[in-house]
Amino acid sequence: MQDFKRYQRLLENTLARQDFDHEPQELYQPISYILALGGKRLRPALTLAGCDLFNGELEEALLPALGIEVFHNFSLVHDDIMDEAPVRRGKKTVHEKWNTNIAILAGDAMLVKAYQYVAKVDKAILPKVLKCFSSTALEICEGQQLDMSFERMESVAEDDYIEMIRLKTAVLLGAALKIGALVGRATEAKAHSLYHFGINAGLAFQVQDDLLDAFGDPSKFGKKVGGDILQDKKTLLRIYARELDPKGTEALTQSALSGDAKVQAWQKLFVESGARSKAIEKRDFFLGEAHDALKNAAGSNQAVAEQLKEFATWLAHRDR
Ligand code: IPE
Ligand code: IPE
Ligand code: MG
Ligand code: MG
Ligand code: MG
Repeated sequence: MQDFKRYQRLLENTLARQDFDHEPQELYQPISYILALGGKRLRPALTLAGCDLFNGELEEALLPALGIEVFHNFSLVHDDIMDEAPVRRGKKTVHEKWNTNIAILAGDAMLVKAYQYVAKVDKAILPKVLKCFSSTALEICEGQQLDMSFERMESVAEDDYIEMIRLKTAVLLGAALKIGALVGRATEAKAHSLYHFGINAGLAFQVQDDLLDAFGDPSKFGKKVGGDILQDKKTLLRIYARELDPKGTEALTQSALSGDAKVQAWQKLFVESGARSKAIEKRDFFLGEAHDALKNAAGSNQAVAEQLKEFATWLAHRDR
């Protein structure tokens, strides 16, 4: 994991050199705020790792990596409006600290900034990089819409859930790696294999996110635990609970419980029905798929491949 810490430091240094202190402040302050709250900086680290895997110039990957992180932060600002989330990274969400209109516009501006950064690659690879980035951005919108539509559905099939999380979450991890590989001048085939690793690591990452949302330690997780339960998100926990204990799930779905009582009742059902254990198994299945995919994606730098393997394991088992 040492290299990942180095990648994250490189990203922090690049971010520190940017100047978001412009007028009007109402637009730019929320952008500086959310970016300064940190977060794990996973995606830019993946871009740098993707580049490093093929012995590319890390310097060349820094601005695209930053662009991917700014894009991720944009998606969080809008996601928190959609999910009515009060807390992000242990602090108030942008729409709570300011208001929804400010959060919408700050997000829009971040999307534009993200494109500007991602486009700062060599002309020779720009078309490929932009094609990957744009299709990913659109897929994320599709995933976010499915996630919201599922809130109003009583039951969602497991495969539909997996497709939804592939779109809303996994494709950005895949794209972060692929763009790094392209900057490292990997062949299209190698870059694609690395993308496939990112998809599986991303699926494991999102299942773990769902587990942490229901059972995480609030002081570490940095988001409101139980948020998905309150929003009736059709997470894997909820899908498995319906499958393993249909009566219990039906009773809770119909109940008038709200707030903490609702969260506790679902937590109990997830544990007692075996839904939690089954979700953990599925998470580890995706991690295994990621590890397998990495074999085909191996680049010229075997040490980086080892680090990626370790990093995927950490992503799937993280507590924050
Ligand atoms: C949160 O991503 C959004 C999801 C796709 C689950 P992260 O867990 O990477 O968020 P930060 O950037 O570390 O805060
Ligand atoms: C978010 O999924 C995915 C995107 C932001 C595109 P979640 O809604 O599960 O992410 P968190 O839990 O709020 O970070
Ligand atoms: Mg969401
Ligand atoms: Mg959310
Ligand atoms: Mg979540």
